[in-house]
Amino acid sequence: MSILKLFEYPDPILTQKSLPVEKFDNELKRFLADMLETMYTDHGVGLAAPQVGVLKRIIVIDAFQQDDEEGNLKKGQPMFLVNPEIIYRSEEMILFCEGCLSIPEQRAEVERHQKIKVRYFDENGKEYLIEATDYLAVVLQHEIDHLDGILYIDHLSRLKRNMLLKKLQKLREQKNNI
Ligand code: NI
Repeated sequence: MSILKLFEYPDPILTQKSLPVEKFDNELKRFLADMLETMYTDHGVGLAAPQVGVLKRIIVIDAFQQDDEEGNLKKGQPMFLVNPEIIYRSEEMILFCEGCLSIPEQRAEVERHQKIKVRYFDENGKEYLIEATDYLAVVLQHEIDHLDGILYIDHLSRLKRNMLLKKLQKLREQKNNI
């Protein structure tokens, strides 16, 4: 397994639409394992293929991982979702504070559907349907958005988005000055 390079805002790859996976082969399995390792290394709860420079409809998530008292990562329930598709969205919405590995050290509240149903394939091409609510639903909507070139900051008002991007810019300048 290897750690993949993360692409950060404003890399144009993050705004492109990803294509469906057609082959469920060993190459896909290897890529999924690498994505998962990259996600854990960067302490993310989810990662979408475009974030590592691959325009394919693939996401990995582990919404229930935890850090123990010594700060070591305890894996929760890793999931591979290939060609995920949201087939139901509740009218009820929830607000949740989101972050993204491609927009380092920033967070903002985003409105999402409280409940969704997602059809997807696992690494072997087996089809599944899951119903997700609350936090898991938020993580899934965030990651599936990446496959359509949408970032969580695209859901913010222009004012909030600009403020967040200014903070990101400042942070990067500070890092460059060290
Ligand atoms: Ni993200």
